[in-house]
Amino acid sequence: LRWTEPGAEYALLSKQPSACLAGEGAHVRSGRALFGAPTLLGGQAAKARLSCASCHINGRGNPHFLLFGVSAAPGTADVTNSFFSAARGNGRFDPVAIPDLAMPGKVSRDAKAGALEPFIRNLIVEEFGGEEPTPAMLGALAAYVRAIGQCSPDTLMGRGVGDQLHAIDDGMTSAVLMFERGDHAGVLLSIAAMRHQLGLIAERYPGNRRELLSASRALQALGDGNRGLPALQRWKHGFDRGLAQKLRRGEGRSLYDAAQLRNALARE
Ligand code: HEC
Repeated sequence: LRWTEPGAEYALLSKQPSACLAGEGAHVRSGRALFGAPTLLGGQAAKARLSCASCHINGRGNPHFLLFGVSAAPGTADVTNSFFSAARGNGRFDPVAIPDLAMPGKVSRDAKAGALEPFIRNLIVEEFGGEEPTPAMLGALAAYVRAIGQCSPDTLMGRGVGDQLHAIDDGMTSAVLMFERGDHAGVLLSIAAMRHQLGLIAERYPGNRRELLSASRALQALGDGNRGLPALQRWKHGFDRGLAQKLRRGEGRSLYDAAQLRNALARE
């Protein structure tokens, strides 16, 4: 809600743009996971728990994005703003419309031209003050951005806990890929991406916060302890058979349910 236009909360929290991907291989899924990880970005963005996906929902746009000091009208952002990065801030307030990444833009999507990787690298490091991404992270992010396409018909979809569970699957696919690449930072970021999704679920399941928090802590310990892929896969297996099932069963009582969400927003 922190970066959402007042009055558009229900619209944003109940609907999302659709995106049809040209392929869902491991690289694309890994990129989609990292795209949703606030810790890919550094500084203020990460602190506010903002990720690439907050502005580019499912890789598209966000007409309701509104953040004080960053946006002028809803759906606009100034990414060369000192709010995000003291280094890159250009001293001017010049927000522009957040582009839909399914549409051809000013950065070539051509893999051979290779313009996307350095563009994304600069976004992360210079505009958002994030840490230097590894080649495996950049490769995955670029593969995802190249795959983003419009669906036909191009309609809004509902939201559900399945979105977050699917994103946790993506995070696991990403962790496996990063383990294979021997990319420790990539493994940690993939785990952070999964933990962020658990946090998003917790916002909608006030009754399950404790269990979600402990699942998230267990994940963190696996990453911090550098416990290897089999331990992570055991966690995921247990999660899928336990908490994930329970969350699916309880969805009607959660804030993914339209009526529950409306009531909760009315109480705000
Ligand atoms: C605060 C909102 C915001 C966040 C967060 C954000 N973007 Fe953007 N993005 C924008 C805006 C605004 C532009 C247009 C900038 C311009 O035209 O100068 C843009 C442009 C782009 C483009 C170029 C599109 C074209 O025209 O070809 C790509 C690719 C992109 N973003 C990817 C990303 C990735 C990857 C991340 C995360 C690392 C990210 N964005 C995070 C707002 C955001």
